[in-house]
Amino acid sequence: MIAFVCTSNPSFAPYAMEELRRRFQGAKVSGLAPGETFMFAIEEQEREQTLKELRRKEPVFLRHLFPVEAEGEASGDREATAELMRAFAATLGERLKGAKAAIQVRKEQNSPFPFSSAEGRDTIVPVVNGFGAEVVAREADWIISIYASKKKLFMGCSRPRDNLSDWPGGAVRFRKDDSLISRAAFKLLEAEKAFNLPLDRFSNALDLGAAPGGWTSVLLERGLKVTAVDPAEMDESLVMNPHLRHIRRNAAEVSFSPGSFDLFVCDMSWDPYHTCRIVSELAPSISAGGSGIITLKLMYRKPLQTIDELTEEYGRLFDVRQVKQLFHNREEVTIWVKRK
Ligand SMILES: C[S@@+](CC[C@H](N)C(=O)[O-])C[C@H]1O[C@@H](n2cnc3c(N)ncnc32)[C@H](O)[C@@H]1O
Repeated sequence: MIAFVCTSNPSFAPYAMEELRRRFQGAKVSGLAPGETFMFAIEEQEREQTLKELRRKEPVFLRHLFPVEAEGEASGDREATAELMRAFAATLGERLKGAKAAIQVRKEQNSPFPFSSAEGRDTIVPVVNGFGAEVVAREADWIISIYASKKKLFMGCSRPRDNLSDWPGGAVRFRKDDSLISRAAFKLLEAEKAFNLPLDRFSNALDLGAAPGGWTSVLLERGLKVTAVDPAEMDESLVMNPHLRHIRRNAAEVSFSPGSFDLFVCDMSWDPYHTCRIVSELAPSISAGGSGIITLKLMYRKPLQTIDELTEEYGRLFDVRQVKQLFHNREEVTIWVKRK
């Protein structure tokens, strides 16, 4: 068997585990850090096919995984722990020769692991450099992952695409700059990357539930014209922008000419079924092939069922391209659709 350490957003591991159980018959899943990390084990000969299948259709709730190629006891002993990590790194010569390697070290809250992430990384940098490899933070050829649970140290080395994310544990970070209107903007920035959907490809956007304007500001920065619909006020830094039209109304009460927009985004914190009805009413104003990015609030007890039902509903008027719980999503997921 080959096992993977898997990570989801806090509290959502049970759903990530259920998704994997449903898709991979015979796979074994078991919890690590409650709600957040777990093990996923499959037959060694199914490894490549399973990873290919995960890349082809990413699970909604699985944020990150890496293969366990070595493990040891997690202890607070600095020298013994450093030795375990160095011994693993020493086995990677063939893969790392002349390559760019990222070293990602994480620990569970109650792990006795005695190092910070940076200290853990620094412990094995000399071994990695010894293979003529360059240690980098991003755009690596290989990622060395080390995860310390309460009891064990898990280590593996994999291609970034096989981890689903090249961020440690899939925790995508954006630089906070002072002009940030709301943290909600990170959701749109992350969706753009996760769905490989450069926003500057579009020209006319409709933003439903736009205030205070985090998503709108991202769209304006990308050079789009934006129609923002929200009864609430937009941030004062945006109101004079000549490319922004703010309609201070409920989104259920507006309508536009057919094909007015090639992109719509919707981040209303509202019942997701109600949001779906509002979006469906406005669908004719989106040109054929136009994209939509919508936040779906998971306010009901069975998130997988909610997602299945809404995928079907949206599927009547749109191609549902992907549903993903982004790192910046809390009790919600993000869906990318394309107008049929
Ligand atoms: C989470 S905030 C949106 C944050 C925004 N995406 C940003 O980046 O700043 C939700 C917004 O949806 C708006 N909203 C909720 N229901 C709405 C509706 N039916 N029509 C229009 N706006 C609505 C609220 O007024 C609120 O400003």
